[in-house]
Amino acid sequence: MRLIAKFAEMKTQGEKIATMTAYDAPQARAQAAAGVDAILVGDSVGVNILGYASEREVTLADMAHHTAAVRRGAPDTFIYADLPFATYDTPEQAVASGLALQKAGANAVKFEGAHPDIVHALTSAGVPVCGHIGYEPQTGERRVHGKTFEEAQRLREEAKQLDAAGVFMLVLELVPAELAGIVTKEIKAATIGIGAGPATDGQVLVFPDVLGYTEKNFRHNKRFAEVGAAMQTASAAYVAEVKSGAFPTLSNCAAMPADVLEQLCK
Ligand code: KIV
Ligand code: NA
Repeated sequence: MRLIAKFAEMKTQGEKIATMTAYDAPQARAQAAAGVDAILVGDSVGVNILGYASEREVTLADMAHHTAAVRRGAPDTFIYADLPFATYDTPEQAVASGLALQKAGANAVKFEGAHPDIVHALTSAGVPVCGHIGYEPQTGERRVHGKTFEEAQRLREEAKQLDAAGVFMLVLELVPAELAGIVTKEIKAATIGIGAGPATDGQVLVFPDVLGYTEKNFRHNKRFAEVGAAMQTASAAYVAEVKSGAFPTLSNCAAMPADVLEQLCK
């Protein structure tokens, strides 16, 4: 069975698709063990992990590097990776970029905007595609998209175009819940929401947001842990114990065999 058939099947069965971003091997390992359905290597790696000011700074080399790390951590999990900004300006460039991420370990790629020609080129080259509309971080304005009739209709049309072009999945970011519900009913591809309400076929969140170590508290997010606070507390405790001499103790290292020590001290 083609790997992407699973998502169509889940949509048909009404089984929700749970996906999150991961950027490195231990994150991927944790998610695979938790039974996540797919891992997104998002270009949000730029802002969340690499300290860039925006998604636009992320390169194809960055994406390949992190995709390979995620694949090593989750050898058997479905991975889709973002084509970063300015790496899919033409169908030829998109195919080259898609094949590079596939080589790094991705099963599929995701890109932003309604570009059916790019979908065709990639799928013809054997690279399955996930679309991404609504708020498009690489070029768009960070706000809810589709609250006016005109904007809602445009998003609906974009979804249909991408669906007809053959995306297997479509991310809807920051759109009204009702619009996400309408689109979900109207297209074959599985819809994955982020800030798009409960009616989509699945959900995606950014892992550092889920873990609670991003600075901002987004309305669309739920912090399932406070890992940021835990990192801070652990760091402070470590620094304090090194300074005081409480860490390490002899139990944290090996002891010299008595006979060798005796020889050394002779
Ligand atoms: O890069 C990313 O994290 C994403 C999700 C928000 C869908 O594209
Ligand atoms: Na992204």
